[in-house]
Amino acid sequence: MEIRRVAASIGAEISDVAICDTGSLDLAALRQAWLDHGVLLFRGQYMTPTALAHFSACFGELEPPPASEAGTREELGGQPVWYISNVVENGKQIGSLGAGEAEWHTDMSYIAEPPTASVLFAQEVPPSGGNTSFSDMEAALDRLDDDLRAQIEGRSVHHDSSTTSVGDTRRGYDGVQDVRTAPGISHPAVRTHPETGRRSLYLGRRRNTYIEGLDLAESEALLDRLWEHCRNPDFAWTHVWQAGDVVMWDNRRMIHRRDPFDPNSRRIMLRTQLRGDRPS
Ligand code: SIN
Repeated sequence: MEIRRVAASIGAEISDVAICDTGSLDLAALRQAWLDHGVLLFRGQYMTPTALAHFSACFGELEPPPASEAGTREELGGQPVWYISNVVENGKQIGSLGAGEAEWHTDMSYIAEPPTASVLFAQEVPPSGGNTSFSDMEAALDRLDDDLRAQIEGRSVHHDSSTTSVGDTRRGYDGVQDVRTAPGISHPAVRTHPETGRRSLYLGRRRNTYIEGLDLAESEALLDRLWEHCRNPDFAWTHVWQAGDVVMWDNRRMIHRRDPFDPNSRRIMLRTQLRGDRPS
């Protein structure tokens, strides 16, 4: 197994492994690489849904899919592997998130115990677009200026559960009228990674978030400044997908976004995630 950095502060490509053969893997070394680099890329993999579930379960307990525009958690059946896709079969979209841009976010920060890891396998990719970028919120906190840091330290952020990262309302929810009363949960704006002890910004996503205890206008202005900082490309790495790629990232440290792509092309990704713990 070889580990090669792909960007300045985050991301590593792991080569010379077949991750469907979980018995052959050095799991301790992979876990350490994931903690060190935040995002791991494995190219040229052959993964069935069962193989992806087996590989993912080597790192923790599988967490069922989030509610999306396609269905509530109950309607989606709680299966541990699901599709992110724009493909329509028999008049029905086979997965969630369509072909639009997914804004910067961390997965499911609107529940009490957000997933630790997410894993994505590229089964079919469009000829262009649909790239996924990752950004390091430990680096973002390290480089935050003193004024912004003083304003956010010790505060909690309310994370909206009703809207997906592409802006769709999840099945079973109404649209948000006032971010202060949106459904969801609050977490500390700065969290400590339970395994590495490193601190990072934990803002969820820009849309429909609210900083507890501030006037709405103050919260909006502070979030705009923080998100401008978080979008700094210095902290980021963009992955251009090839069919057969598997990417696994650490939601406690990273945010991610997806570029839009031509809705007439096909993108089929298999997805798992791992049960997490309460951010603190
Ligand atoms: C996601 O946000 O989990 C999906 C990312 C992607 O489609 O690349």
